[in-house]
Amino acid sequence: MQPIRNIVVLTGAGVSAESGIATFRGPGGLWEGHRVEDVCTPEALRADPRLVHRFYDLRRAALADVAPNAAHVALAELERSWTGELLIVTQNVDDLHERAGTHRLLHMHGALRSALCAVCGTRVAHTGPLPPGSRCGACGGAALRPDIVFFGEIPYAMDRIVDAIGTCDLFVSIGTSGAVYPAAGFVEWANDRGAATLELNLERSAGSGRFDESRLGPASELVPAWVAELLAGQ
Ligand code: APR
Repeated sequence: MQPIRNIVVLTGAGVSAESGIATFRGPGGLWEGHRVEDVCTPEALRADPRLVHRFYDLRRAALADVAPNAAHVALAELERSWTGELLIVTQNVDDLHERAGTHRLLHMHGALRSALCAVCGTRVAHTGPLPPGSRCGACGGAALRPDIVFFGEIPYAMDRIVDAIGTCDLFVSIGTSGAVYPAAGFVEWANDRGAATLELNLERSAGSGRFDESRLGPASELVPAWVAELLAGQ
């Protein structure tokens, strides 16, 4: 096996579950009585902007009540102490990786604490409520929307993700069901590249069979143990 220098980590809702943020497809996977897919599409935004904006306002406000858990903290420690390359790609829209201290981070599905102008494409930090018709400071258009990649839209930073996986020696998937593409396909790209692949998840996922190794358990236990093991071998 080639020495491990460049690592790509993909995280999903499972890494934030122990912080109190519900996952999408686990027990209680409905959000505020809505299925995520019913409020996370361009059609839903067009049909009922008030519902969609309010749905994300509630999730944005709820960030004040949660904190990073040991998994987020361990990944930030890895970034500080790892001498090779490390990139964290998260499907999550919460800000727990940042609050734990991670900097080299890509939110491929957008972020709750950001707003997107549907007219000019400008993305701006936004922490409070975002009512429909909010004005964009860049173009003046009254079309700021939640900066969330809806189903059917193109995830962010795919070029950087492809490059990172194309040069990684290790790909690690943490807390994701492997149900949504393109993220669910990243492990195949890593396998094709000849990288080692590891899954850390509470239970077997749709992609478990595609990893060299799959460790089952809560992220708050598995991730700190894996980071300690990796740094000890550095
Ligand atoms: N520790 C580790 N893994 C956990 C934990 C935990 N404490 N709790 C749950 N999990 C695992 C579940 O077993 C599941 O495999 O996390 C995964 C969560 O899966 P999903 O709810 O499908 O969330 P995710 O994989 O992030 O969804 C991907 O789908 O709905 C869209 O855009 C949304 O980004 C999301 C994408």
